[in-house]
Amino acid sequence: MVKKIGLILGSLRQDSNSQKIADSLKELFPADVELTQIEISDLPLYNPDYDEEGGQLPESYTRYRNQVKEQDGLIFIVAEYNRGLTAALKNAVDVASRPLGDGAMGGKPALIASHSTGNVSGFGVNHQLRQSLVFLDIPVLAKPESYLAQAHTLFGEDNKLNNEGTKNFLQTVVNTYLTFANRFVD
Ligand SMILES: Cc1cc2nc3c(=O)[nH]c(=O)nc-3n(C[C@H](O)[C@H](O)[C@H](O)COP(=O)(O)O)c2cc1C
Repeated sequence: MVKKIGLILGSLRQDSNSQKIADSLKELFPADVELTQIEISDLPLYNPDYDEEGGQLPESYTRYRNQVKEQDGLIFIVAEYNRGLTAALKNAVDVASRPLGDGAMGGKPALIASHSTGNVSGFGVNHQLRQSLVFLDIPVLAKPESYLAQAHTLFGEDNKLNNEGTKNFLQTVVNTYLTFANRFVD
C-alpha cells in the first residue's frame, strides 16, 4: 500500500496557485497517507561533473534525492512557462535522473496536475513532463487527466477551494491515483 507520497511543485513563487492546489490536495488524502512537499528551489543547475568521482556534490542534491527515494509515489503540480516545463522543474527531474542507474524517481507511480490562469490549463507542460517521466520509467496516471483552468479563481481568501465542483473533481483524481499507485507498491 502507498504510505508516502512526495509533492513536487514546478513553481518557486510565493503565493503560487501551485501551492494552493498542493495544500488542497493534502486535505483530500486519507489520514494514513503521509504527504511530503519536496523542495526544489535550492538545487543548483544540474551539471554531470557533480556526479563524477571527486566531484563536489551539492548537499541539496543528496537531501533531495534521498527524499524522493523515500516516497512510494510522486505528485507533480505544475504551471506552464512558455508552453513547457519551468526551468526549476526540469532541473529537478534531471537531478533525480542521475547518477545513471541509480536515479531517484524510476518506477514510482506519478500523478501530474497542471494548471494555468488561462483556459489551456497547462496542457503543454502536462504532456512535456509526461514525456520525460516515461523516459525515466515512471508510470503516470492516464485518466482522469488533471487540468485546472483559471486556477486563480478557484480559491477563497482563506486560500481554500471555493467550489464543490473542483473539490469533487480533485477527490476523484486522488482516489483514482491511489488505486493506480497501489498496483505498483506492495
Ligand atoms: C515566464 C512565464 C511564462 C508563462 N507561460 C505560460 C504559458 O505558456 N501558458 C500558460 O498558460 N501560462 C503561462 N504563464 C502564466 C503562469 O502559468 C501563471 O502565472 C501561473 O499562475 C504560474 O503558476 P503559479 O501560480 O503556481 O506560480 C507564464 C508565466 C510566466 C512567469
